[in-house]
Amino acid sequence: MSNYTREMESAERAARLAGGLLQESFGKELIVDVRSAHDIKLRIDKQCQQIICDALKADFPDYSFLGEEGGEGGEIEWIIDPLDGTVNYYYGLPLFCVSIALRVHGVLQLGCVYAPVTGELYTALRGQQAMLNEQPIHVSSRRQMAQAIVFVGHGAHDRSGEAGIRRFAHISSQVCKVRILGSAALSLCYIAAGKLDAYVEQSIHLWDFAAAQVILESAGGKLEYAPSECEPLSGAVIAYNGLLPIHEALEMSS
Ligand code: IPD
Repeated sequence: MSNYTREMESAERAARLAGGLLQESFGKELIVDVRSAHDIKLRIDKQCQQIICDALKADFPDYSFLGEEGGEGGEIEWIIDPLDGTVNYYYGLPLFCVSIALRVHGVLQLGCVYAPVTGELYTALRGQQAMLNEQPIHVSSRRQMAQAIVFVGHGAHDRSGEAGIRRFAHISSQVCKVRILGSAALSLCYIAAGKLDAYVEQSIHLWDFAAAQVILESAGGKLEYAPSECEPLSGAVIAYNGLLPIHEALEMSS
């Protein structure tokens, strides 16, 4: 049994609590705190972060927090994105989720991603099988780009959206289909579940993918992260089923 089973129970509870609020408020009028060209910060983001932090703190008072809505991190830290897929959520698209990871001395130990509308709960403890609603999941066995469905991230910063679109255009000729889903965490979980095959994004924050990384790797997939020199806690991500020649496909696009 993993050392972090209790933490996982706590993360699941917290994710379901925040997910409950997101679902109740889905499709209703929402308070926008900040709006920029490609991003929105919603008041409900902060409310969900508070719900998650309160729930986790009650069980593990000494652990730190790091996340989209603040926190400084520490040796044992929860990495939280209370609402991944914010723009989808705001526009009434059901592709969004709560994402909670635990990192201990720099190593991600658990991931929990909850999509309230579909009721999908993806979980993994490092070194154990990844699960979707308590059923084991595994990445796809597709090896050829021509059969693959690849996600491209349309990031919010550093012109990464434009970079994503250029990649989208190039890679679309090599694969079966390309998708931009609007939630990095869910995209990675879909790869973990073998529904789709790869994900690339030029500039993405750690909290957008930390939980889903554990799930993907525990399902047999791979995630490569190249930290940005300009933006802390941010960088480029290539994630895939571990079988596709995704690097070759991307090189052709540079
Ligand atoms: C965003 C989503 C999106 C990704 C962006 C993220 P947010 O997270 O994951 O898919 O392309 O880079 O910022 O803002 O909805 O939590």
